[in-house]
Amino acid sequence: MFNNGWRKPSDVMGNYLDRIGAGWVLANPDVMDFDYIPTELVGRETIQNELASKFSTLHHPEGAGRVVITGPVGSGKTVLARTFCRDIQRHLSNKRNIRSVHVNCRNASTSMRVVQRILHELAPGHPDRGLSMGELLMSLRRILRQDTSHLLVVLDEVDHMLRRSGDDLLYQLLRIDEDQAGKGTLSLILISQEQVLDVLETAVISRMGSTNHIRIDPYTVDGLEAIATQRAESGLVPGSWSPEIIRLIAEKAAPSGDARRVIELLNAAVERCEFRQDDHSERCLTVEDVHVPLENIATAAGSNLEHIDDLNPNAMLVLLSLCRRLSKQESMTTGEVEQLYAVVCEEYEQKMRSHTTVWKYLKEFEERQIITSRVAAIGDGRGRTTHLSMPHYLPKDLASRIEMLLKRKFR
Ligand SMILES: Nc1ncnc2c1ncn2[C@@H]1O[C@H](COP(=O)(O)OP(=O)(O)OP(=O)(O)O)[C@@H](O)[C@H]1O
Ligand SMILES: [Mg+2]
Repeated sequence: MFNNGWRKPSDVMGNYLDRIGAGWVLANPDVMDFDYIPTELVGRETIQNELASKFSTLHHPEGAGRVVITGPVGSGKTVLARTFCRDIQRHLSNKRNIRSVHVNCRNASTSMRVVQRILHELAPGHPDRGLSMGELLMSLRRILRQDTSHLLVVLDEVDHMLRRSGDDLLYQLLRIDEDQAGKGTLSLILISQEQVLDVLETAVISRMGSTNHIRIDPYTVDGLEAIATQRAESGLVPGSWSPEIIRLIAEKAAPSGDARRVIELLNAAVERCEFRQDDHSERCLTVEDVHVPLENIATAAGSNLEHIDDLNPNAMLVLLSLCRRLSKQESMTTGEVEQLYAVVCEEYEQKMRSHTTVWKYLKEFEERQIITSRVAAIGDGRGRTTHLSMPHYLPKDLASRIEMLLKRKFR
């Protein structure tokens, strides 16, 4: 272009709008949606087996099951139930007609609203106004009997309904066959977060059968890594991300154990990376993209840089060597720390501390959640080495703070 950078206004406009839908990094935005249901759950085989075992008679014309699923926020309760309902229908398609309804009781918080929702899903035109609970339940039974289908009812966030309307509806649903010939019209899955268990505990869990209670743990860093990897594989442009950057994101989300958080962090990094794209920048998620501040979310350690101000100056030198490398790279080995630490000592004209002391500092950084460590196999798998990363701080910012503090101490 030889016109001194001047372009027709329409070109400029065209240019900046080109960004829309270009998707240099993000190929399929759906995967970042919290309601997106992956084709497969990752890392939940044990719980999936446990859930399936509660429905082991479902292939039988009179079989039914009931289960209560509890676990912390973002532990995959909803997606577990959704994928189960989807998969079981397919799996039994030539044996039994299974239908399912997933009601979120936060939006339908009275028992009346819940039954209306269920009916509405099964028979969209069904009139429900003015009908009593008994009449609604009778309609429900009639519909199910008509097409000899088995209904899987999922009451998600059921604590909302229990608080408003008590547990009466649960028993009515469980007893739906009682005055009828035949059995096994309906199965029930209740879902609630662990903290609200008190509402459920005594009455509901014992009535559902305490052996039918499935407890889900929060995700570990490896679980979060697997989830983020799955989303990256199905949603990002190949080559725009690396396993190392996904690991860093998982480490950042790890204190929460929340799958939603890791997806949110991945999405934020992707947005940031898309945003900074021009013809020259690397089309690849970087350490800085991962540390883009998310509003309203405080990490466990917080990212206040003053957190390190009381470190001993020698420890600061070690930390500075970490920060410098981790500004460019997702993780580093302890061997690399020692090499870079030597360089930093030279720069500040300080005597290097012993190997053991450096090790002690690293342990301290980890305890204070400044860094995270992971032992991994190297090469042919026989040796092991420790990888260090800094998921909760932007290493570059921390480095500037340390340099400022060290200036006061050593110069
Ligand atoms: N094992 C997994 N594999 C793939 N994606 C997962 C897995 N677990 C959770 N997710 C995804 O993480 C997000 C949060 O999961 P989900 O909504 O099921 O959590 P939840 O336990 O129901 O949370 P809440 O207590 O807030 O209702 C969803 O987008 C879900 O698809
Ligand atoms: Mg949920």
